[in-house]
Amino acid sequence: MTQSAVAANLSKDSEAGASADTSERALPLRAADSPVGPAKILALANQKGGVGKTTTAINLGAALAESGRKTLLIDLDPQGNASTGLGIPAAQRRQSTYHVLTEDTRLTDVAIESGAPGLYIAPASADLSGIDAELSEAEDRAQRLKEALAAGGEESVTNCYDYIILDCPPSLSLLTVNALTAADSVIVPLQCEFFALEGLTQLLGTIKHIQSRLNPRLAIQGIVLTMYDRRNNLSAQVAEDVRLNLHESVFRTIVPRNVRLSEAPSYALPGLLYDSECAGSQAYRSLAAELLEQDQEPQERTAP
Ligand SMILES: Nc1ncnc2c1ncn2[C@@H]1O[C@H](COP(=O)(O)OP(=O)(O)O)[C@@H](O)[C@H]1O
Ligand SMILES: [Mg+2]
Repeated sequence: MTQSAVAANLSKDSEAGASADTSERALPLRAADSPVGPAKILALANQKGGVGKTTTAINLGAALAESGRKTLLIDLDPQGNASTGLGIPAAQRRQSTYHVLTEDTRLTDVAIESGAPGLYIAPASADLSGIDAELSEAEDRAQRLKEALAAGGEESVTNCYDYIILDCPPSLSLLTVNALTAADSVIVPLQCEFFALEGLTQLLGTIKHIQSRLNPRLAIQGIVLTMYDRRNNLSAQVAEDVRLNLHESVFRTIVPRNVRLSEAPSYALPGLLYDSECAGSQAYRSLAAELLEQDQEPQERTAP
């Protein structure tokens, strides 16, 4: 598929060429008396590795938590980078998302509060890497996560949080299929590099397939440009090209390349807690504000 075909798939009505917006948006606080949940479930997916899925999962999660939204990050990557990055070492992960997907272990029993107040993590473990083979005979293999999120009815994990973020592995295998089947919407991090759109066609194909077979309500929340380097002309060109082709499907917020974001996981903290004021933290607050704005729109539209 060409870039313009990708654009045709993604584009909503938009003003072509809307310019990049890197300005900061204030993060709207949640009203203290509003009830928690049911959660909006967001999958962070891109089968390419190293594009910023986990960094976005952690820092978008931290920004939503900072705004008062109780947030659960579900780590679906056998590498467990989100779990490690939030301070849950592999040795402490006796109960993990692997047990949730293969046994009757409840997500509520697996979730641990991270060092960031209001941000919880359901950790991954390395045995997730064998799950495709392990579940190959199970008829409900694509729905395991969806079932786990709804288990317990009124007391389901979905009803205990405002946002649930699914951090996918770098593949379109069963774990990503489970995430897309369980999610309300998908955010696609795209690194500002020359082949940014490469692989997007395949991801969009998978999303379409899941929309038609497994999860008709799955929406594309947006594409988020990551690791933008303003000293590098290529970054600017890629950002402009992606935005021209994909219009409003691209978040206005662009996440800059920022060394503080890459240092933070080794201190077991989200960037937002490691260096609250750095450009990367500000960008993720802005992204969260944009998401909250988008999520409010339908209510505003239906208001009398
Ligand atoms: N905005 C950023 N600035 C600098 N480094 C980043 C940024 N986003 C991610 N990284 C680094 O790039 C690498 C890959 O990011 P990661 O979020 O783990 O990608 P993925 O989950 O898609 O594989 C990590 O080392 C991470 O710390
Ligand atoms: Mg990752």
